[in-house]
Amino acid sequence: MTGCQKLVELGRRQFLRSGAAAAAGVAAATAVSSTPAKAAVSAARVSYPANRLANLKDLTVNEPLQIAYPDSDSPGVLIKLGTRVPGGAGPDGDLVAYSTLCPHKGFPLAYDGRDRTLSCPGHFSRFDTEKEGQQIWGHATQNLPMFRLAVDAAGDITAVGTDELIYGRTRNVL
Ligand code: FES
Repeated sequence: MTGCQKLVELGRRQFLRSGAAAAAGVAAATAVSSTPAKAAVSAARVSYPANRLANLKDLTVNEPLQIAYPDSDSPGVLIKLGTRVPGGAGPDGDLVAYSTLCPHKGFPLAYDGRDRTLSCPGHFSRFDTEKEGQQIWGHATQNLPMFRLAVDAAGDITAVGTDELIYGRTRNVL
């Protein structure tokens, strides 16, 4: 075998070796990718506590009861409106609960039973408690967080979640 032929043979062997290695790599990658992927759990998922707030017997129509949810740093009100409303809970569909921290800059809201609004003394935003906390006037850029309620057969009222971000938080459950 001439020197030139040896070089050609050496090159051919190296080519075949590297081709075999590449094929093995592809096979390994294929084997890995054929493993079923596990569903990633969303990082934004929130587990809310279920906190007992009161009993139906504790409530008087149109008189707010001071509460806190989902923790003691998040004040709110529980109101029996006396009229079935969207999002209302309980046997009469008239129980609602809201955060009382204004979504604008966190001033404490006050309930006005005449028009059933929660009003802000800071910059005068107003929120309709009969329409799931919809903002009806003011500077806030979101509706009022409404606490979801569950009522059991004994009349116990439990808060189980909320639908908007509570003022001052990057997530509702700290
Ligand atoms: Fe309520 Fe500004 S803090 S409107």
